[in-house]
Amino acid sequence: MSQVPIALLMRLRKARSVAVLTGAGISAESGVPTFRDAMTGLWARFRPEDLATREAFRRNPKLVWDWYQWRRGLIEKARPNAGHEALARLEDRFADFTLITQNVDDLHRKAGSRKVLELHGNIRRNKCFEDNGPVDDRAAEGEAPPRCPRCGGRVRPDVVWFGEYLPQAELAAAFEASRRCEVFLCVGTSALVHPAASLPVEALKHDACLVEINPVETPLSPLCEFSLRGPAASMLPGLLAQT
Ligand code: OAD
Repeated sequence: MSQVPIALLMRLRKARSVAVLTGAGISAESGVPTFRDAMTGLWARFRPEDLATREAFRRNPKLVWDWYQWRRGLIEKARPNAGHEALARLEDRFADFTLITQNVDDLHRKAGSRKVLELHGNIRRNKCFEDNGPVDDRAAEGEAPPRCPRCGGRVRPDVVWFGEYLPQAELAAAFEASRRCEVFLCVGTSALVHPAASLPVEALKHDACLVEINPVETPLSPLCEFSLRGPAASMLPGLLAQT
């Protein structure tokens, strides 16, 4: 088991309020590809401007829909790993615990986390490109992409694309949690995409102890009091066991 610095354990044992921000790295060991890892990341193989913007969907809805269906296939097969499970168990250890994720794969909930703020949506849900209302699974069968039963608009995945606003209630709750926590834990994120990447900085401004779990350095590393260099699926269970 990985050794966790004693000073970090002391901070955690004393903490009442903890916030965690996760990114694609926590699901890597479940077989869900990350975005920016050099060889295996999705953005090494695909161009986000062709697949993850409103303009891309307008230009070629079938291409975008089919790409998300392919990702849905990968995600449906994926199971939560020991990192997701450790975070679900940590939720019970603190009076105030907020799990914020940039992931759309639902693996935190599948692992048993009850309260999850999904900043970038959820790939298992659909909505209408025109009226923005939810569209359930059955309606989303047939044509690719299917049509909205209300207005005939095209159906799209309920995820946040580049240039779109994040869900405002989730974002506000995430900022509030970042301001009030004593320990802010960043797990498996390159910390490059805003506004999510502003959350640890906000926590730091409010005197939180910033901790990172990532096998490699990120732009956040110089700001962190503790950097645990290793994969989430082994570092997080270590943290749980020793806290
Ligand atoms: P990235 O792909 O940018 O970063 C993944 C991070 O996880 C990298 O820093 C890796 O070093 C780290 N990592 C890889 N394997 C790991 C492991 N086993 N354990 C821990 N860390 C590991 O993914 P995100 O930071 O999540 O947005 O990207 C942010 C957003 O950019 C995504 O939500 C997505 C993307 O475009 C939207 O789709 C809106």
